[in-house]
Amino acid sequence: MPGASVHRQLPATQAGRRLTMQTPQVHGKPVRASQSDYSELALPNDANVLGNVLGGKVMHLVDLAGAMAALRHARTPVVTASVDYMNFLHPVHIGQLIVLRSSVNRVFRTSMEVGVKVWVEDLLTGERQHTSSAYLTFVAVDTAGNRVPVPAVIPETEEEKRRYEEALRRREYRLELRERSHP
Ligand SMILES: CC(C)(COP(=O)(O)OP(=O)(O)OC[C@H]1O[C@@H](n2cnc3c(N)ncnc32)[C@H](O)[C@@H]1OP(=O)(O)O)[C@@H](O)C(=O)NCCC(=O)NCCS
Repeated sequence: MPGASVHRQLPATQAGRRLTMQTPQVHGKPVRASQSDYSELALPNDANVLGNVLGGKVMHLVDLAGAMAALRHARTPVVTASVDYMNFLHPVHIGQLIVLRSSVNRVFRTSMEVGVKVWVEDLLTGERQHTSSAYLTFVAVDTAGNRVPVPAVIPETEEEKRRYEEALRRREYRLELRERSHP
């Protein structure tokens, strides 16, 4: 159940008797509170020898866009712990707009999974194409670099709830890979 790991304040008990007011208090933030949009025009500086945007440039923007949502959610510094694989479905041409949207899919304890979706927009026609998607894990730290807990994220829409559920399976797979590569 999506809300299962959202921290809820249990009904208080006073003098051995349960209070009748049982409205749960949710300690967390909705996904929409930190969802972030970021756009950048593809310029000649970003081009490969074919005149299209370098994949590394898109990866950099994905990291930035992901960090924006993570920072907005956690309100503490964050570091990138991992980036899952990325596909590049279409080339991005110089002069096109790279459009990114990032959302916190799920918070674990000190880490959170952020999903970033990338489109390319032709500014002359307005046509948009989905070019990449990526999942990143950010870890919240304090200014001394110590890991700190992150508030829960509350999925509200059906899509947010689906991503929330799927994020747990992805985390298990990621941590298994980490264990295998650094036993
Ligand atoms: C990411 C980092 C903080 C993890 O430190 P660590 O000592 O491995 O800490 P832990 O094992 O306690 O992991 C901390 C959290 O990160 C998660 N995590 C760590 N590595 C992960 C990975 N590869 N993928 C997904 N989650 C990961 C853990 O599951 C844990 O999450 P939780 O608290 O929500 O349960 C540390 O490796 C680091 O600082 N790396 C450098 C980050 C950086 O500089 N990034 C930019 C690179 S240029």
